Amino acid sequence: MVQSRPDYDPVSVGSLAFWGQRPEQREQSLKVLRDERPVSWQRPAEGSMLPQAEDAGFWAITRHADIVEVSKRPGDFCSGQGIMIEDVPESILEAASSFLATDAPRHSALRRLVSAAFTPKRVAKIEEQIADQARRIVDDLLETGDCDFVDEVARKLPMWTIYEMCGLPEEQRLPAAHAADGMVSWSDEDVRAGLQPAELLGQSLFTLSGIGLGVAEARRKEPRDDLMTNLVQAEVDGERLTDQEIAAFFVLLSVAGNDTTRNTISSAMKALTDFPDQRKILQADFDGTIGTAIEEFVRWASPVMTFRRTATRDVELHGQQIRKGDWVVMFYASGNRDDRVFDDPMSFDVRRTPNQHVGFGGGGPHFCMGNMLARTQLRAIFDQLLHRVPDLQAGDPVQVVGNFVDGVKSMPCTLNLT
Ligand code: HEM
Repeated sequence: MVQSRPDYDPVSVGSLAFWGQRPEQREQSLKVLRDERPVSWQRPAEGSMLPQAEDAGFWAITRHADIVEVSKRPGDFCSGQGIMIEDVPESILEAASSFLATDAPRHSALRRLVSAAFTPKRVAKIEEQIADQARRIVDDLLETGDCDFVDEVARKLPMWTIYEMCGLPEEQRLPAAHAADGMVSWSDEDVRAGLQPAELLGQSLFTLSGIGLGVAEARRKEPRDDLMTNLVQAEVDGERLTDQEIAAFFVLLSVAGNDTTRNTISSAMKALTDFPDQRKILQADFDGTIGTAIEEFVRWASPVMTFRRTATRDVELHGQQIRKGDWVVMFYASGNRDDRVFDDPMSFDVRRTPNQHVGFGGGGPHFCMGNMLARTQLRAIFDQLLHRVPDLQAGDPVQVVGNFVDGVKSMPCTLNLT
């Protein structure tokens, strides 16, 4: 017998009011859910792009252990029916998500095509180039002086790294990164600048796909040693990828490679400003502490806040009857503040050990492919910042409003050079 739905939870984590709050305010609601109703039935995300059925909603998964469980059971909780907390037009989903929104066996085949470029060995090969680039960014920062940290520091290294790997010409990098921002900030009125969410998504997608296809075309004519060349030459089941598939790869790499690492850099800089004792510990022994510090940066920032799965059959989780077809949304930021797993989770601790955060996902087949690349960039940029601008202070960040990536639009900084 089909069970009737529970009432919508009184603590709503789908409303614009919830997402418009600062992360520490959102955490108050998430803590109530974690402690009292870890699997709660929620109203559909407010302001969704598509109309929702009367009884629509989603299950909010807020505990660390449940996020890991859902991530590791792709047979029961699939990605192929969408990965966002709200419904997006299918044409956009297909063109934007590439293998992120697919399931095995297609997911494994597509992921394999690019995963070789992200292995620790390959990342180690470009580590020196990333360090060089971080040095140049801080050279420029020292010339510029007090400025917007996001524009002058945080944005630059992730953008350089992913587009260098793709082989994107220099002059196209900023427009591509800007379009990637539009792909994750459709709820933010400033970013939308008068457009409807679906219009902003559509425009950003059009720009990014166009740029990706242009590079693909150039690589077909003149192959090079880069990711886009790999993609135009790759075959799945004996067939070359279509233009649409190549464009979707480029969109996914652009979005995943830019916004996540940028926001982690901004958020970590703010945390190092707000917790000077932790900065001192890191500065006193950078090489000995940066490994654990990076994990804490990612836990603290939790730049990817949510990902959705869809139940492929009726399942029970914490006494809740989840029906086949129900949406199940993992709240990574909540899992990363779960005191069942983290001692004193609200304290920023650069030596935190162990630190089994779910910032890169809860494990399973979709675990972040760029995690080593992100860690390498974080090490390189903080090596430069903490040694060469040791007293840099971050001001108040202006957050992007949204239910997907926790973005920092701008954040003033003062260098305090002596
Ligand atoms: C601090 C930075 C980053 C964070 C916090 C982060 C977080 C995540 C998360 C939460 C997922 C989904 C995991 C899951 O569903 O289990 C993911 C997937 C992914 N990430 Fe990252 N990411 C970061 C940096 C990067 C970078 C630099 C790249 C490089 C392009 C990247 C590429 C990807 C790709 C391609 C996927 C999809 C994997 C799949 O579906 O198989 N990420 N990331």
